[in-house]
Amino acid sequence: MFQIAVLVSGSGSNLQALIDNQQRYGYRIAVVLSNISDAFGLVRAQQAGIPTCIVNHKDYDGREAFEQAMIAALDAYSPNCVVLAGFMRILTPVFIHHYSGKMLNIHPSLLPKFKGLHTHARAIEEKETEHGASVHFVTAELDGGPVIAQGRVPVLTDDTPELLAKRVLTVEHQLYPAVVAGLVKGIISLPPQVSIAGIPAPIDCPLLLEKVA
Ligand code: GRF
Repeated sequence: MFQIAVLVSGSGSNLQALIDNQQRYGYRIAVVLSNISDAFGLVRAQQAGIPTCIVNHKDYDGREAFEQAMIAALDAYSPNCVVLAGFMRILTPVFIHHYSGKMLNIHPSLLPKFKGLHTHARAIEEKETEHGASVHFVTAELDGGPVIAQGRVPVLTDDTPELLAKRVLTVEHQLYPAVVAGLVKGIISLPPQVSIAGIPAPIDCPLLLEKVA
């Protein structure tokens, strides 16, 4: 069985989508790790009977020690893939290289547009007509790894960042489990070393959903 580890810092609505689609797509969440002890994502995992683990960055002297502790906790479950789902710590090359080609992130924009924070407000400000979410391999460049798949939503004239965020999240909840399903089915492959050359153009969400159905 394809096993994933999910890292969360907050509400974990993407985690919930990943939990709800385990059976349908044939993967298993082996562990949910959070750096925040009261993250609601941990409650979601516990309610689903999934092992949880807290590694609080404040308990460690520096990023590397924190990351080594996360690596030790995660590797006890031998995950095939590490899935960042609203994990709000910047990772150093130590962690990124350890899971090179095996780590995914979901970012709420149509990358390479709007890397970083406040993506919905920025999309409205820039008068974008289309916005969305991207799932990408994690590399040392923040929000800069090769994009695997994207989901799109329209930006409406009377949108607020909150309304737009909600619309994007509904797409995220389809997109992220479908990307994991793509890995399970071999439609998407995890390169041993991330290289842009090896990654085709991002798959659009509707096509990906068709392929993994
Ligand atoms: C999502 O918008 C995701 O794209 C970003 O963080 C947010 C996490 O939301 N990386 P949730 O915790 O999954 O509800």
